[in-house]
Amino acid sequence: MSVKTVRCNNYRNARRSFFEFDPFLNIIVGKNGTGKTNILESIIVISNTKSYRTANDSDLIRKGEEFARIILNTEEKEYKIVINKKNKSLYIDNNLIKKTSDFIGRVNAILFKPSDLELFTQSPSERRKLLDIEISKVSRIYIQSLLKYNSLLKDKNKLLKQLEPDDLLLNVINESMSPMIKIIIQERSNFFAVINEYISPIYSLISGKEADISVVYKKCSEIENVNSELEKSRDKDYYYHYTTFGPHHDDYSFYMDGYELNSIASQGQKRMVLIAFKFALMKYIQFSTGSTPIVLLDDILSELDKENQERLLNIIPENTQVIITNTDINNLDIKKNYKLIELKEE
Ligand SMILES: Nc1ncnc2c1ncn2[C@@H]1O[C@H](COP(=O)(O)OP(=O)(O)O)[C@@H](O)[C@H]1O
Ligand SMILES: [Mg+2]
Repeated sequence: MSVKTVRCNNYRNARRSFFEFDPFLNIIVGKNGTGKTNILESIIVISNTKSYRTANDSDLIRKGEEFARIILNTEEKEYKIVINKKNKSLYIDNNLIKKTSDFIGRVNAILFKPSDLELFTQSPSERRKLLDIEISKVSRIYIQSLLKYNSLLKDKNKLLKQLEPDDLLLNVINESMSPMIKIIIQERSNFFAVINEYISPIYSLISGKEADISVVYKKCSEIENVNSELEKSRDKDYYYHYTTFGPHHDDYSFYMDGYELNSIASQGQKRMVLIAFKFALMKYIQFSTGSTPIVLLDDILSELDKENQERLLNIIPENTQVIITNTDINNLDIKKNYKLIELKEE
């Protein structure tokens, strides 16, 4: 899939902006602070219905303004998000879309950025966020189960806060939770199965070195034990006054040749593992949706040496739309044809 145009009003630093993209390779250059990342972010906002840079939608509104608007056109459709101080509205071809699950993932994009490296050291909740967003993009049943689970979890925690929680009510909540938990574990397991199929070979292609890379899913329970685990956790839940068991505690970690990545890999190797992980993610999305995501490379090429730069660009499948940002075109060694988009200070 590819983006044809992005038009914004009052979004971040731009009062009005309009960009037209080449279906294959695009390079955005400009000094720091000219809005390169903002452009990639606007595509992600359409893809994920929210930004990865802020939890607060109103940060996307240009300072001093009341609303922001992003309109993204593909060959087929027009996607629009209008963000006000208090809420946001989603539209496809000017029809209001009420459910996030009918909008998320329609425009598929994968962003590579230097701070991705934090994934290895972040809190489990940040790692789960990535999981939830990416799986939600390809699986409606996942996003629906997750939303339902989270709302049941809220109810359960509220109940557990009481001095004497109602046992029967807890049973009812557990019974409704159980199928949601099983779906979440199943979909997360499928996700990691695809990632593990691709991550090592991709790592070798980018780094030029063989290594056994794997991502281990640390799930709360095997699917067949979910009901008994729910039952078993009851006393602990009463004791701590919150829900101690469930996929809201899931996590995953990365291994290289059998060792925990953080304990053996150099910064450069970690970077390669991360890029390999993102490309494996791309395979997962491609595999589940039948369309190739748009590849967004924010400031990451200049961190790699020329050889790795070239390998990375070479493993991007032909016919993929790629948008690269950099402060200086001379830092890049790009042999293919591309469209250059130059940003100037306002
Ligand atoms: N809500 C906002 N209103 C006005 N300016 C903003 C807003 N959010 C971000 N900016 C500005 O956008 C500018 C460009 O940011 P960014 O896209 O990160 O630049 P680049 O990636 O080119 O270095 C920054 O100078 C920042 O201050
Ligand atoms: Mg930037």
